[in-house]
Amino acid sequence: MAKQQRILAVDDDERNLKLMHAMVTREGYDCKCVEDGAAALVAAQEYNPDLMLVDVMMPQMDGFELTRRIKSNDKTRNIPIILVTALADRDSRLKGLEAGAEEFVNKPVDAMELSIRLRNLLRLKEYSDFLVHHNELLEVQVRARTDALWKTRLEVVRSLGRAAEFRDNETGMHIVRMSKYSQLMAEAVGLGYERAELILHASPMHDIGKVGIPDPILLKPGKLNAEEWEIMKTHTTIGYNILSAEYSSELMETAKMIAVSHHEKWDGSGYPYGLKGKDIPIEARIVALADVFDALTSERPYKKAWSVEDAMCEMNKQRDRHFDSGLVDVFEEILPDVLSVRELHADERVA
Ligand code: C2E
Ligand code: SIN
Ligand code: SIN
Ligand code: FE
Ligand code: FE
Repeated sequence: MAKQQRILAVDDDERNLKLMHAMVTREGYDCKCVEDGAAALVAAQEYNPDLMLVDVMMPQMDGFELTRRIKSNDKTRNIPIILVTALADRDSRLKGLEAGAEEFVNKPVDAMELSIRLRNLLRLKEYSDFLVHHNELLEVQVRARTDALWKTRLEVVRSLGRAAEFRDNETGMHIVRMSKYSQLMAEAVGLGYERAELILHASPMHDIGKVGIPDPILLKPGKLNAEEWEIMKTHTTIGYNILSAEYSSELMETAKMIAVSHHEKWDGSGYPYGLKGKDIPIEARIVALADVFDALTSERPYKKAWSVEDAMCEMNKQRDRHFDSGLVDVFEEILPDVLSVRELHADERVA
């Protein structure tokens, strides 16, 4: 048999208590008796009953008030309450229901009636306990699975990002730096911790589409001609298509959006769609800044690394042209943090 169920009986009359105790224990339940509401409130938490039998007419705290207090406390609200009342009138029943009582029995208490009500309510209590427990278990399981999936996705995402970057940036440090700059910006702009994390993990894939660009173009030491440039620009839509093949998740959706929009410009002169201003998702506007700052201050097959001062000068020139000027302000504010990241994840220099 399952554990013995516990009944807490509350009555100011000692004779009534004894009677109830006898009836309840005869039915095979454990029974604790207390003589007033205050003691009942304590016992409700310490004895942890499966059901309470509560006398309505008691000095100080009456049964209605006791019921209200039990039902307004998260720790005790699930304990079913049977009000024991000499009042058979409609008004006091309504008052009891309103206070949150589940059942009523009339005085003098009929042993058979009490036995049936106890059994029914306790069965209900058992079922609701089971549901609460079951839901908690489910939540734990779902959380564990979500964590595992998230980790798997992150690994895929990072590998993809590195694969793209290794072609024109041997150390792969560009994606580490620009993703961290992007996260710092997202936080400074007030997008919140979770969206900033999403940007951190999605942005390394911004140039994944470069895997579709032929080496002679991607690795060309000099300037691209018009035809090469048209091909180069397709790395945005290629990236979008590569990421669309993945099953959809918030992370992949964000990555896709960043891949396709990271070369759009505030004034509408960017590619692939010439989006303007706030039509460009804020994630992409942030990544554009972080990407260009890092590209400028890094060496590329086609260019030397610029100094931070020259890069900042260029970014300021691009206010309202390439960049959202509000974001340039934010970038300048967090520049000390950006420079710490840059130092921590510097490319290994072959002297
Ligand atoms: P990337 O090297 O990762 O550069 C990302 C962005 O940083 C560029 O996007 C551009 O906005 C900025 N950027 C990089 N270097 C410079 C620079 O020297 N001056 C200025 N003002 N901005 C710079 P963009 O222009 O849309 O180029 C996208 C990608 O196309 C580049 O990614 C790179 O892979 C390729 N690319 C661009 N120009 C050339 C080039 O002249 N030669 C070669 N081989 N590739 C180029
Ligand atoms: C990386 O480690 O490749 C970039 C940062 C991240 O995805 O967490
Ligand atoms: C957003 O939180 O996505 C809106 C902010 C913006 O577009 O600047
Ligand atoms: Fe790009
Ligand atoms: Fe980039």
